[in-house]
Parts: sequence; structure tokens; C-alpha cells
Amino acid sequence: GPITFAVMLGSLRKASFNGIVARALPGLAPADVTIQPLASVGALPIYDADIQAEGFPAEVTAMADAVRAADGVIIISPEYNYSIPGGLKNAIDWLSRLPNQPFAGKPIAIQTASMSPLGGVRCQYHLRQSMVFLDARILNKPEVIIGAVHTKVDAATDTLTDETTRGIIKAQLENFAAYARRHHG
Ligand code: FNR
Repeated sequence: GPITFAVMLGSLRKASFNGIVARALPGLAPADVTIQPLASVGALPIYDADIQAEGFPAEVTAMADAVRAADGVIIISPEYNYSIPGGLKNAIDWLSRLPNQPFAGKPIAIQTASMSPLGGVRCQYHLRQSMVFLDARILNKPEVIIGAVHTKVDAATDTLTDETTRGIIKAQLENFAAYARRHHG
């Protein structure tokens, strides 16, 4: 039947290249897949166990509920200093502290984009590492690693223009839908 993928975006800026990729997903997903953006990771406070002791912030539990409700999560992110941007890592850290943490058993697909030819691949592998600890079900292939992203979008029309990249994302989403149907629940 129809399934839903939640999208977690690692960049906060309005003109984010990763944001352009994220907004292209509904047009690239199979017809029976709904793409559901999660709230901005920027809405969460910096993780602090003292805040947690007073009760998880509503933004954290709402994001966790949205992850639980989804059949899979697509994480789309730039790479900062060869790793995961702090805001995204912070959101993962918050969600990981919840009882019955929502990434356990959850299908996860990763997409990274960078102006560098390496496309944020080092962030991609650090995300995979954290998701192994959280016992997520990480889709291995196809990998979506978008190098030179500034040449593959039209910022003025907010469009992912590069046909090769669109094809790789389409293939990943098709594969991820089949994977989520096998692994969810
Ligand atoms: C970067 N950038 C970057 N790019 C990269 O390929 N490898 C890296 O390690 C880094 N490191 C890095 C650190 C910090 C603090 C910033 C702000 C940026 C460049 C980054 O990929 C570029 O700014 C992207 O355009 C950010 O993604 P969005 O916001 O366009 O989605």
C-alpha cells in the first residue's frame, strides 16, 4: 500500500542546496510514496541532559512522533568539517535519548550534497555510523552523493535540474520504498 517517508534536512539556510534537493523529492518519488518534511532541526535546543531531566522539549517529542509514524526517514544534509552538521547531529542526539528511541528498526536513506566534487560523502559515512549504533535499517544502495551541486540546480526556480542526479534519486526512492516495505514494522 501507500507509504510515507519523513525528510530530515541538515541545513537551516533558506537558499540551501540540500533544501532544493529535499523539495525535489515529491516529484521524483514513486506515485504511492508521500514525502513529509520534518520540522527544522534548528527548532531544537542544544542537547542538555538537565533539560531532558525536566522533560523532553515538545519539539523533540513531536519530531520523534513524526519519525515513528513514517515508514522511513530520508536524511538530506551538507557536510561540515568532514562530518555531520551540528544541528542535525543535535536532533539525532535528542531523539536517541527517548525511551523506545524512534530510529530503532527504522529504514533510513541518506542523501548528501556539496559544492565539492566529493558531495559530502564523509558526512554520509558518519551518519551511517551513528545509525548503526541506533540500530536503524540503513539503505546501502544506490548512494546519493551529489558533488558540484551548485552546477546541478537552478536556484532561481528552486529546481534540481541535473538529469543524472534526478535519475539516481529516483532509483534510490524506488529501492527505498521496496526496502521500507520489507523492513518496516
Ligand atoms: C562547509 N562546507 C563543506 N563542504 C564540504 O564538502 N566538506 C566540508 O567539510 C565542509 N565544511 C564546512 C563547514 C562549515 C562550518 C560550513 C558552513 C560549510 C561547505 C558546504 O558544503 C556548503 O556551504 C554547502 O552549500 C552547505 O549546504 P547547503 O546549506 O547549501 O545545503
